Amino acid sequence: MNKPILEVIELTKEYHEGKLLTPILKKINFNLEEKESVAIFGASGSGKSTFLQLLGGLDYFTSGEITLFGKAYSGLSDAKKTQLREEKIGFVYQFHHLLPELTALENVMLPLMIRKIPVRQAKSEAAAILDQVGLAHRLRHKPGELSGGERQRVAIARALVKKPSLILADEPTGNLDKKSREQVMGLMLEMSQAYGISLILVTHDESFAHQMSRVLVMDDGVLVGR
Ligand SMILES: Nc1ncnc2c1ncn2[C@@H]1O[C@H](COP(=O)(O)OP(=O)(O)OP(=O)(O)O)[C@@H](O)[C@H]1O
Ligand SMILES: [Mg+2]
Repeated sequence: MNKPILEVIELTKEYHEGKLLTPILKKINFNLEEKESVAIFGASGSGKSTFLQLLGGLDYFTSGEITLFGKAYSGLSDAKKTQLREEKIGFVYQFHHLLPELTALENVMLPLMIRKIPVRQAKSEAAAILDQVGLAHRLRHKPGELSGGERQRVAIARALVKKPSLILADEPTGNLDKKSREQVMGLMLEMSQAYGISLILVTHDESFAHQMSRVLVMDDGVLVGR
């Protein structure tokens, strides 16, 4: 067995509201191997998004540990955690989170610009990825001038352009119609396989479950097999 790229040990997350303590994630243990794709199903409020946020180092956990490529989050400063995230993780959300004033091309260039990649190179790499997601003819369009499915494909291109090791996707097809959903989901699986990227996908869509290496269920803060 390969060494996991991501290890989650006894992870808990609690919220304090006044004197009330609400457990959200309850001692989650989870490993992800290179190139593995995992779907997480589960009822609304069961803790799926919270889990992804923690995996991405975007929120603090109460106890336990998350280790990504051998680096334990609890031992990292915020700056180091941000650096690790920038380097290794791509996010795709239910709502695209694209910047409305920027074109599709500029939105996809952004992660490369943050990495201080020269503009010309960033432009050609972003255009190449947009071409792969079928949007070569939409480079100059702003998010408001794109369909929902197209916007989501731009968001996927933006996650892929920095060639992350891991993509965390939170209901990426949640607000799309059936046809766009199939297209976007197919693309995510195809592209992550093509680039050897591991994938953790929160979804309510059963139709792609059989294409994932594993399917898990978040059940009131406990991650279980299915
Ligand atoms: N900042 C917060 N303070 C207190 N409770 C919170 C906070 N953020 C989330 N929660 C609670 O944590 C629980 C899990 O939320 P989470 O967003 O992870 O659920 P989810 O499984 O992603 O649900 P959905 O399918 O609706 O997106 C919910 O009960 C929510 O109310
Ligand atoms: Mg959620």
